[in-house]
Amino acid sequence: MDTLVIDGGMPLHGEVRISGAKNAALPLMAATLLAPGDHVLHNVPDLRDTRTMLSLIKTLGGDWVRQGGTVRINTDTLSGAEAPYDLVKTMRASVLVLGPLLSRAGYARVSLPGGCAIGTRPIDYHLKGFERLGVQTDLAQGYVEARVKDRLRGGVMYFDAPSVTGTENLLMAAVCAQGTTLIQNAAREPEVGNLIDMLTAMGAHIEGKDTDTLTVHGVERLVAAETSVIPDRIETGTYMIAVAACGGRVLLRDSLSQHLVALSEKLRRCGLIIEERQDGILVFCPEVAGSSLCALESVDITTQPYPGFPTDLQAQFMALMCMGEGTAIIHETIFENRFMHVAELNRMGADITIEGSRAVVRGCGRGSLSGAPVMATDLRASASLAIAGLAAQGTTTISRIYHLERGYENMAGKLQALGANIRRISG
Ligand code: UD1
Repeated sequence: MDTLVIDGGMPLHGEVRISGAKNAALPLMAATLLAPGDHVLHNVPDLRDTRTMLSLIKTLGGDWVRQGGTVRINTDTLSGAEAPYDLVKTMRASVLVLGPLLSRAGYARVSLPGGCAIGTRPIDYHLKGFERLGVQTDLAQGYVEARVKDRLRGGVMYFDAPSVTGTENLLMAAVCAQGTTLIQNAAREPEVGNLIDMLTAMGAHIEGKDTDTLTVHGVERLVAAETSVIPDRIETGTYMIAVAACGGRVLLRDSLSQHLVALSEKLRRCGLIIEERQDGILVFCPEVAGSSLCALESVDITTQPYPGFPTDLQAQFMALMCMGEGTAIIHETIFENRFMHVAELNRMGADITIEGSRAVVRGCGRGSLSGAPVMATDLRASASLAIAGLAAQGTTTISRIYHLERGYENMAGKLQALGANIRRISG
């Protein structure tokens, strides 16, 4: 099994280029199923998840070529409408093909994603939204079968909680529906905005971008388009937290500070200096009395939908708080089981207890974590273990890094370039 081996204790210095956002690339790739032609997507990260989405597009009859960060996807002829279990079980975002297939083919059969390491994560909002547009949905043999009854018609959908992929799926089903669709309590994540920009370039008519109320005026047909994937705010945030944990000074090139206001605010309270520049975000630890490591204040966080503190950075921030000077309360409000990293962090010397949806992190100061063999349990938990390993004394070996590789492009290479002692071992 492939592992990451980290000898901790090195400060991070230099520049790192932030990749395109996984969570934006996936819906953009799914959106290519909406209209025939040659779609061009730039800044697509080369990740396990983006490869899975390309496999799925091929399964459905599409074709693609990749040249560097540019992926050209042709969807002239679709020959299938089924997302099989083997693909969906490795990536629940496969459900994003439901909306486009319903719009283009009037029918889709997609395996139910089922549970995952961070909770039950149902797709009932997606299905309710489709039903509002005139879709009949049935569950059989572990699959969702969705069929447009007559034709897609505009409707009103209120999300009980602002679901990111739910909003994206419904948008893609609604763009060519007859009449107007109103989506209330929609997700405002920048990845939704990136999708709206692509759909607009394809000829869709959507009002309310970046707000929680989206109005979609259905159009007759869409055409292929060329779009760029926005920078990955979660990858950016992960490296910002890594600098806070290890010390040093790093420029996160091609990142967008306006997508990370909540994290920047918290890191500043911890004692970090964060500068927003034209070419990216500069993060550094102020030197205190000749030491390259400033003391870390402990700071509480509560995860919330955008623009609140992202759940996808909760695990990484928790690793940082293990090195804080006091106690931090980390309240997870989005997913019910997103503390799988706690046991592994405690094995590295952290002092964390879980009380329902809150984790109480008693900071033990810098230099308190010690390297250990640990196991990655999900994508962001893996990143939190990498941060802990980078700051710990001694050697940390992280196994099951396929989780990490679902969402981080060349993490070992990027960290090596910043001076970290990290290597990826195959076998
Ligand atoms: C997306 C992101 C994921 C991130 C999450 C929250 C992608 C590919 N993934 O996941 O990285 O952690 O947003 O920011 O973009 N819910 C339901 N029923 C539904 C849908 C959602 O109850 O049908 C609940 C979820 O359990 C959760 C909340 O709504 O409590 C928000 O989840 P959602 O935004 O849908 O997450 P994803 O879109 O799956």
